[in-house]
Amino acid sequence: MLGTTSGPRIGITGLGTHVPERVLTNAELSQIVDTTDEWIVERTGIRERRIAADDEALTDIARPAVERALADAGVAAAEIDLLICATVTPDMMFPTSSALLADTLGMPKAAAYDLLAGCTGFVYAIAQAYGMLASGLSKCALVVGGDVLSKILDWDDRSTLVLFGDGAGAVVMKRVERGGFLGFELGADGGGGENLWLPGSGSRRFENPQAHVKMNGREVFKFATRIMVYSAQQILSECGKKVDDVDVYIPHQANKRIIDYATAKLGIPHEKTVVNVDRYGNTSSGSIPLALDDARAENRLQDGSLVLMTGMGAGLTWGSALLEWTGALGGTTRAG
Ligand code: UT7
Repeated sequence: MLGTTSGPRIGITGLGTHVPERVLTNAELSQIVDTTDEWIVERTGIRERRIAADDEALTDIARPAVERALADAGVAAAEIDLLICATVTPDMMFPTSSALLADTLGMPKAAAYDLLAGCTGFVYAIAQAYGMLASGLSKCALVVGGDVLSKILDWDDRSTLVLFGDGAGAVVMKRVERGGFLGFELGADGGGGENLWLPGSGSRRFENPQAHVKMNGREVFKFATRIMVYSAQQILSECGKKVDDVDVYIPHQANKRIIDYATAKLGIPHEKTVVNVDRYGNTSSGSIPLALDDARAENRLQDGSLVLMTGMGAGLTWGSALLEWTGALGGTTRAG
């Protein structure tokens, strides 16, 4: 799917994020599996990640992010009429995490559902919220992107264990006077799905029912480097923008090498690229909102800044959003 937006302007009016308190360093991981800090830093750029506590599930880390986003937007929970939660690690399949969040946060008039699109979930979800808002069906939407991948990793598998971390972000989306989303590009390739999968997590029977993330890292790497560039080029050209017009580039935080490849190939300078994979690892659906929040904390999001976000992940899926930032967001501080 590729298109520019038309009709009313829809933008992000509030942003909040949250990460669990527990920091897990590469040195600690090297006590668990046969790996080293050197290997992890050289191959991925990751130095540490946040890991949820035993009794923490997705909604526990999403709730503070949502509260911050609402406060940032100056919107009461009861005003939210649409809540989409992008995640591959809901508390459970049902009730959905979005329904649980809507209940605990007090959003009685919200339509609420979870959305599953791997690490691209957040980009898919903002595109959906855009559509609902632009059509007038929704007046005030909340999009959550978050994952607790630590709960579905094989803690004996060094090839996946070192890559992921836990975290969540949330945005309030509404009609805005200026700025807003310019377009979206979204895609999926189920044929490549076997390169990043969670066997035993659904209705298909597998011999080993334990659901752990399995990945063919080299294949996902090849896909990622190709698609990050393709998707960004597609959306820029569709919206009539050049690479030089981009003020802030927010790539999915999977691996510093993938980000470096994409920035070099696209010709986006490092100063315009947001990187926090060193501190959080790959937080899946949480990755883009966490990076967006870091960009804001560093004062990189100004009124009118052109923001390019590109995600990719399990499915295989990918997606880009081009957004003209609407200024004057309060800027609450991330805790944890
Ligand atoms: O949201 C999307 C999520 N997934 C991704 O983005 C992953 C994309 N892929 C990657 O980022 C990279 O492929 C990895 C970081 C996963 C791996 O890096 P690589 O440079 O592609 O390494 P490799 O898979 O080719 O493995 C090289 C070696 C292997 O040993 P041999 O066969 O050469 O003896 C691995 O067994 O590194 C070994 N290895 C490790 N060594 C130390 C794999 N994981 C580790 C580890 N520590 N944690």
